[in-house]
Amino acid sequence: MRMYDLIEKKKQNKALSKEEIQWFIEHYINGDIPDYQVSAFMMAIYFNGMTDEETSHLTLSMAESGEMLSLEGIEGIIVDKHSTGGVGDKTTLVVAPMVASLGVPVAKMSGRGLGHTGGTIDKLESIPGFQTSIPIEQFIDNVNSIKIAIAGQTANLAPADKKLYALRDVTATVNQRSLIASSIMSKKIASGADAIVLDVKVGTGAFMKNEPEAVELAEIMVSIGKKLGRDTTAIISDMNQPLGFAVGNNLEVIEAINTLNGNGPKDLLEVSLELASHMVYHAKKASSIEEAKKMLQETIDNGSALKKFMEFVKDQGGDESYVSDTTKFQGASFKEAVNAKSSGYIASIEAEQIGYSALVLGGGRETKESVIDLSVGVIIEKKIGDYVAKGEPLAIIHGNDSTKIANAKALIQDAYVISETEVEPPQIIKKVIT
Ligand code: URA
Repeated sequence: MRMYDLIEKKKQNKALSKEEIQWFIEHYINGDIPDYQVSAFMMAIYFNGMTDEETSHLTLSMAESGEMLSLEGIEGIIVDKHSTGGVGDKTTLVVAPMVASLGVPVAKMSGRGLGHTGGTIDKLESIPGFQTSIPIEQFIDNVNSIKIAIAGQTANLAPADKKLYALRDVTATVNQRSLIASSIMSKKIASGADAIVLDVKVGTGAFMKNEPEAVELAEIMVSIGKKLGRDTTAIISDMNQPLGFAVGNNLEVIEAINTLNGNGPKDLLEVSLELASHMVYHAKKASSIEEAKKMLQETIDNGSALKKFMEFVKDQGGDESYVSDTTKFQGASFKEAVNAKSSGYIASIEAEQIGYSALVLGGGRETKESVIDLSVGVIIEKKIGDYVAKGEPLAIIHGNDSTKIANAKALIQDAYVISETEVEPPQIIKKVIT
């Protein structure tokens, strides 16, 4: 087989066989196929798509490209959670300790930022000392002793996805249904959880811009999960504006800590409770979603979720004093307001542009080699439906470089549409697909 022929076949919109997909994955991870050919291949898939059958073959080939983790050493039903990616999406940092504090084991492999979206691993690394790369034995020990461990994808877990993910991030080939589904599900299958809860984001800040596309993505992921024996649920949640107010690595960690303290944004708490309740229900710790939500709210009200987060940070080498005193996080050098040019109601926010503004400030990667600045980002002051007076701030930029701040400012200014008539804020949970 030759890579050239596979690219040509996909360019002509023909379906690839299981053997061709397996061959591609095997030779890509061996280093036999150069990135430039794979970039062209990804772009052909981006434009022509893949059938459900091709997507299932790609998922399994990627899952089997490395170690298939056995979490047999962990007691209880392990439920994993994964988001398709959004702006200001820090739900894992809220959901994982809430769920773990109810005794449900959370053994989660998370990712870095992708395109305009942030990643849990980058966020966690803004806590000084926090280790996102821990040996599997420690990962399992931590889950058994404190019910929670979150680590970056190890070199050996779905290595084909690890390589493709980094390449897609910088070749504008992220937002394709089959590529997203296989990327997420290969990791979930390889990382050995019993059940999976997916947060499929839809809207201007998501990879899926409209509901039918998001539902299609959710359905294929649920179907792959079920075919491979994992109880899978997908929630479709709104991403027409950043989730919560904070966008940027350490700013988001601070907001997640505030949420665990009972002082978080309403939309972030609502999505977190929805996702967490399905995890608790799958783990058979509650007899209904409503009961699970009550139990989870209680973990915030009685401080047990925050306590669990501190234990988790400490066990992975992080300085937990940053959790009890968030003023210790290093702030950016400059804060600059983006002010409204007219009065009215916020009609829409191009959330992807807000995500890019955080990237432009240095909070995300421009190339595979970029080193990110954990202190920069944006605090949203006005969300959809809010009234703003001319000259009032729409958002506050936290930056370290005046040229980058100016670029981010233009993106944010442009992202807001202000209307003279009142606007209803979007509904946050759109659908649940089981
Ligand atoms: N999250 C992933 O893990 N992969 C994608 O392709 C998109 C979001």
